[in-house]
Amino acid sequence: MKHFETRDGALFAEGVALERVAAEFGTPTFVYSRAALSDAYAGYAAALAGRDAMVCYAVKSNSNLAILNVFARLGTGFDIVSGGELARVIAAGGDPAKVVFSGVGKTRGEMRAALEHGIYCFNVESEPELYRLAEVAADLGVRAPVALRVNPDVDPKTHPYISTGLKCNKFGVPIPGARALYRQAARMPQIDIRGIACHIGSQLLDPAPVAEAAAKVVALAEALNRDGIELRHLDLGGGLGIRYDDEAVPATRDYLAPLLGVLAGRTERLLLEPGRSLVGNAGVLLSKVEYLKHGEDRNFAIIDAAMNDLARPALYDAYHRIAEVRPRARRALRCRRAGLRER
Ligand SMILES: Cc1ncc(COP(=O)(O)O)c(C=O)c1O
Repeated sequence: MKHFETRDGALFAEGVALERVAAEFGTPTFVYSRAALSDAYAGYAAALAGRDAMVCYAVKSNSNLAILNVFARLGTGFDIVSGGELARVIAAGGDPAKVVFSGVGKTRGEMRAALEHGIYCFNVESEPELYRLAEVAADLGVRAPVALRVNPDVDPKTHPYISTGLKCNKFGVPIPGARALYRQAARMPQIDIRGIACHIGSQLLDPAPVAEAAAKVVALAEALNRDGIELRHLDLGGGLGIRYDDEAVPATRDYLAPLLGVLAGRTERLLLEPGRSLVGNAGVLLSKVEYLKHGEDRNFAIIDAAMNDLARPALYDAYHRIAEVRPRARRALRCRRAGLRER
């Protein structure tokens, strides 16, 4: 993890000893590196240089207000999935005009709030959602900016819990029916068709499935153009993975290259919704061992953080590296002074 380093056995974040942070703020504490957040975004900005594009940070990956504020200052847009996330983006200084609203369960109240704040686009995930949005827009006397989120039925080759673009998943409108739904939307005065959206899954290490999904999105865009439906943007979602253990993670530029190749010559604005790859390697959870509990089969280190702080291991048996904050030698000395046996 860039900007986190070990010096003589002690862990530092941007040159600050994490032992000091723990002493000052207590534990458990999340510590984030602004430099790591900015660097991750810079990777996207560099890969997309020269083309009309907007990176919308996926708020679900970490909705901490300070982190949202860093991204707002960097000029990103935001991908939200609830009215609560919209409120957080606004509270953190984000621009609603750069917000895309994904998610299969949008309520009328959430739609109203998003329309009142003038968001960039709704990523509509079903036919009933489209009709509900049209009604809410009519009540407010406005037109709703819309992309249909399509489900390309592409295997992202990741954990099943974070796959979203297969036809067995609840997300998006199947591509075969999408063209007809766009035609319906085009006849609805309260709907302003802006683009197509697609997100196939998370922690992707292979760029091929995203490029395959992009090719299906482009084919749909061409069909819609033939129907006289003009699109202003194509949104290819997020998905790029990060290194937790020994995964081979492509650089952002290399991950995006096949996708950009598929889009070559297209004039629509490109939207991306990365989350994990912007924030996942930019922070640590500082925690303290409170008890050592010796069992018959195994021993446990009981810490002061739990699955409410870090859900992934309990959720899908995910691996997270654990590193010592304090050098072993100093710990050994403290143990000796306290009359304890170091384990
Ligand atoms: C619609 C949508 N966009 C973006 C993301 C962010 O994906 P990632 O954090 O893998 O970049 C997700 C995550 O599940 C999502 O569902």
